[in-house]
Amino acid sequence: MTFENILIEKNNQLATITINRPKKLNALNKATIEELHEGFKTLDADADVKVILITGSGEKAFVAGADISEFSNFSVEEGGKLAAKGQEILFDFVENLNTPVIALVNGFALGGGLELAMACHFRIATDNARMGLPETSLGVIPGYGGTQRLPQLIGKGKAMELIMTAGMISAEEAKSLGLVNYVVSQEELLPLATKIAGKIMNNSSVAISKAIKAVNDSFRNVNGFETEVTEFGNCFGTEDFKEGTTAFLEKRKAEFPGK
Ligand code: COA
Repeated sequence: MTFENILIEKNNQLATITINRPKKLNALNKATIEELHEGFKTLDADADVKVILITGSGEKAFVAGADISEFSNFSVEEGGKLAAKGQEILFDFVENLNTPVIALVNGFALGGGLELAMACHFRIATDNARMGLPETSLGVIPGYGGTQRLPQLIGKGKAMELIMTAGMISAEEAKSLGLVNYVVSQEELLPLATKIAGKIMNNSSVAISKAIKAVNDSFRNVNGFETEVTEFGNCFGTEDFKEGTTAFLEKRKAEFPGK
């Protein structure tokens, strides 16, 4: 598939997806959502890729939301389908990827943009970033998981306030709420993300994918403790576990085969 709305770059086990519609502040139209699905699927299946970064092109926006021009005249049925399909092929898909995904929030992350950042495994923001769920100001509610993931990340009361006021918060406030892990300048964004990705790459990719599943299950209607027990046990059957424990006992750095 050739991409018109996203760019993909690979560099030493680190892949970067850049949403590339800067004139529309990287708003998520249907085509972009479909391309992101394909891009993430391909990178997740690539054994060479250990960490995926996602960001927006330009210095103004990560993603300014779902593309409002595409759904302004939708019916009830079309609206429901829009949310269901988006959640399935992008937002839930990213959250449940085996490969760690870090959102580099380099400007506005509004509506579907913040929802995409929240579906990633964690977030780093630049100091100019502004985040919010403005949907109620348009007469809708967040439809790409925002009503669920925002309270999971920052607590119910603050999430209710942000959703009801349709307000925006600064990067620093987002950090103080636990919505983003770090706030840096534009210049520092990629170096910091690369440094953190490097630390992740030192560890077992198989174990990391099982940890993602277990952590995610604590936010679903399933028993995350049971998932943890199962996945903990499954780790004992992996080559990465043999290598990790053997390397520790031999006092050397582990070289994980990723199996
Ligand atoms: N959907 C479609 N187009 C969007 C968009 C969105 N969510 N967000 C921005 N754009 C487009 C604008 O329509 C404009 O296009 P144009 O140049 O063809 O008119 C272009 O991106 C630039 O945006 P503009 O509004 O001129 O920039 P700004 O600096 O004045 O304002 C924002 C920036 C982010 C505050 C403003 O664009 C905005 O409020 N966007 C919508 C945010 C939103 O409600 N998102 C949730 C959607 S569910």
